[in-house]
Parts: sequence; C-alpha cells; structure tokens
Amino acid sequence: MIYDNDSEIEKELVQKFSGKIFETISRVADNMQLECYAIGGYVRDIFLHRPSKDIDIVTVGKGIELAKAVAKELGPKVSLSVFKNFGTAQIKFKDTEIEFVGARRESYQRDSRKPVVEDGTLEDDQNRRDFTINALAVCLNKERFGELLDPFGGLQDMANLIIRTPLDPDITFSDDPLRMMRAIRFSSQLGFDIEADTFDAITRNKDRIAIISSERIIDELNKIVLSPKPSVGFLQLDQTGLLSIIFPELVALKGAETKEGIGHKDNFYHTLIVLDNIALKTDNLWLRWAAILHDIAKPATKRFDKKLGWTFHNHNFIGEKMVPGIFRRMKLPMNEKMKYVQKMVGLHMRPQVLVDEDITDSAVRRLLFEAGDDIDDLMTLCQADITSKNPEKVRRYLRNFEIVREKLKDIEEKDHVRNFQPPIGGEEIMEIFGLTPGVEVGRLKSSIKDAILDGAIANEYDAAYKYLIDKAKKIGLEPKSK
Ligand code: CTP
Repeated sequence: MIYDNDSEIEKELVQKFSGKIFETISRVADNMQLECYAIGGYVRDIFLHRPSKDIDIVTVGKGIELAKAVAKELGPKVSLSVFKNFGTAQIKFKDTEIEFVGARRESYQRDSRKPVVEDGTLEDDQNRRDFTINALAVCLNKERFGELLDPFGGLQDMANLIIRTPLDPDITFSDDPLRMMRAIRFSSQLGFDIEADTFDAITRNKDRIAIISSERIIDELNKIVLSPKPSVGFLQLDQTGLLSIIFPELVALKGAETKEGIGHKDNFYHTLIVLDNIALKTDNLWLRWAAILHDIAKPATKRFDKKLGWTFHNHNFIGEKMVPGIFRRMKLPMNEKMKYVQKMVGLHMRPQVLVDEDITDSAVRRLLFEAGDDIDDLMTLCQADITSKNPEKVRRYLRNFEIVREKLKDIEEKDHVRNFQPPIGGEEIMEIFGLTPGVEVGRLKSSIKDAILDGAIANEYDAAYKYLIDKAKKIGLEPKSK
C-alpha cells in the first residue's frame, strides 16, 4: 500500500471502480447533475486488500432518487428497498448490496442516539463518520472519476496502523457511543493501535455505552471474539472500563490471591490465553464462546482449604448453569448454540480427568456418550486450556492427550456409543411392567444405559431386555402377563 503520488492512487482506484455497477451509478448521477461518491468501509477495504460486498454511496442531495434511477438502469434483476424515514435506499444486485444516502450533517441530543438530520456537503458527511480510515471518499462523477477525498489523513493512518476519530473523540463518541466498541473491534480485527487521545476518550466516555442496545453491542463483541487474536480486543475493553459494564462476570475472574504462601493463577488472563489458543484452531464462534466461559464460575466456587490449597469445586457445573443468564442478558441466541456452549463448559474438565486417572474403557465410553458429535470440539477446548508455563508439564499433558484421542477412536469404532440411544426406552419399560411414568421407570432406563457404558452388557436389544428383567426382579417387579 505504498504510493509515490496521488495519480498512482487514482489510477488504482479507477481500475477498482470499473465495472457495470459503478459505470451505471456514474452515468446516472451525471445525468441528474448530482455529486456522487463511494465512501466508508468499501473504500477502506480496497486499501486493506480485504474483500467487501457492501458499497455505500453518498450524494449531495437526493440519495433516494439516485437509487431509484440506478435501479431502473440496472434492469429487472435488481431489488430496491427505500427507507424513507432514514432517507436511504438499498439496491441488491447479484451478491452486492449498495446503500444510497444523501450527504448529511447531524447533531445529536445528549441522551439519545436519534440525530437531528439535515442535508449537508460531502465534507459534513465525512466529519460525522467514526474513524479517519472510514471517512475516505472516492468521486464517481465522470470528470473526477477515481479522485480520492481524504480530509483527515485516513490513508496515512492505515499505513501507520492507527485508529483515530476525525473530530475531537469526545464529540465522535458522544454522537454514537457504539463507536467506542467499534474502535476496539477494528483494532482487534486489523491489528491496529488506537491513537492515545481516542483511547483516553473511550475511558472517559465509557458510561455512555449504557444508551446502546444489547443487540448492537453483541454484534461488535462477536466481531472481537472472531478476530485473529481476540485478547487484543478484550484487553482494551478491560483497560477502558467498558468490559466491567458489558461483561462483569469476565472481569470478576481477575486477580491471583495468595494465602499461607499458596497462590492460584489469574483466571482472567488464563481465559484470554485459552481464547487465543482456540482462535488459532477454529473460526467456530460458539467454541470461542465456550473458551470465554469455561472458567466463568471460578469466582463463585473459590475456596481455600488448609490441606488442598485453592479449590474451585464444581465450577464446570455451576458455570454451565450461568450460561443461560449471560446469553439472555447479552442477547446471544437462547437455542442449540447456547446448549452447545453449556455442554462444553460442563464437560471441559473431563478429558483432563481421564488423562490424570487411569484411562478405563468405561470412562472413555461415558465421555463419548455425553459429548456425542461434539467430542472433537471438546478435545480442542481441553487442549487449548493447557496454559502451564512448565514445558515438561505441557509435553506430558499433550502426550497423554494423544493417548486419550487414540482410545476415543478405538472405543467408538468398537462400540458406537457416540450417538447412542439405549435399546429399550421409557415407553417400552412402562409397557413391559404396566407402570405409569415415575422415578422407577427413569431408574430402570438409566441402569440399562449405565450397564452398556460400563461394558457389563452388549449394546443390543436381547442383552438389554434380559438385564432389565433381572434388575426389575430385584425391586419386586415382574413383567405383566400378556
Ligand atoms: N459508521 C459510523 N459510525 C457508526 C457506524 C458506521 O460512522 N457507528 C460509518 C463508517 O463510515 C463506516 C460506514 O458507516 O465505514 C459503514 O458502516 P458499517 O457497514 O457498519 O461498517 P464498515 O465500516 O463497513 O465495517 P464492517 O463491514 O467491518 O462492519
């Protein structure tokens, strides 16, 4: 991204803006005698060599009219949506979305995100954008086609890997406090630094995040979670004080207490290392969330025992129970994605326990049964959870992990318990013994499951039936006569 002069930049931009869509917009805008520019993320991503499908077009006046005329020219394959209240219109053409808006100047009232919008010049419009790198505009009118308008040095900031607001950051953040999250999100996604004044303004204005909806906040947070090294974003959220407002449970993991000369690790930094480890292995957002939440109940379960030192008994189960509350508040989905995260949090110590104890067939079968198809993800999480600084310990853990993986494979091939359903279910048990639903039925059903997982009987109907009849006899139940 090194250019010797402006004409080199322009040459590249003319080439990047070639093609039917931009040619049409250019021609139609000229016919309507409208100044017209591509602006924002699309222009930024050209210089960052990132693919981008959403194009923002700004005109000086009459954004909706331009969109309608362009849609007409592009023919029947386009769909046009007009949002009169917002003064915007959107065209979908193949897999590209083009948003049209008239240039604006906006002033905001202090306690609301609702701006008072007035028509403005291109410069007004650039002033009201979030960061210098997002304020670049490229002219599309024929006479000045490909001319770059970069009033705040966004190109230079991109070269220096800097996030900075175009105006005084207190004004930019006060206009839309979500931009504080966006600054950190771009920093984490792109590996950019946030310029010092901008960063300090986030710290100063952090409480204004309260007026932003959880839906908009989680969108940005998820982009941080999905960034190449998510700890970059989380550390900045923490340093600015935003994290304790939006995610206090995570901040509660901070601190390493010592008692009677015994310390424990700082679970906040540990969690961030686990998250970075997972990010190297997978783009699965929910496995990344499982990493974030795996130790979330450590503060709630922390005890000091004179003999054992620090303990966090059952933090996996308590953590599993905390997941729905956190998901609900953050407006994360309350569906099978949440259940998956719960399962991962609940089971995250199991492969490790297997390694520490004797790896018996029955323990491996149980783990396979409980993790089902998510067993590989669980192993990935568990491996990422090894953050010891002692290389000998790490080597030993990893070696043992390989043994567990081998064993999991062997047992699955032999016994197929991964998605196993006991061969006799509750309905049939009630039918056989003439029972109504109740604890007895549940107990008999799980005794069959346990016998199979423990390897006492084979995973097949006849063996299970015989076992059931014997078991029932012991509690005084006989099959009802036919
Ligand atoms: N914008 C802004 N303030 C916001 C959101 C957006 O000023 N709170 C402006 C920026 O100029 C931005 C443009 O609107 O470039 C488009 O915003 P959006 O589509 O949300 O984000 P992008 O910058 O395109 O980035 P991404 O696609 O990664 O979300």
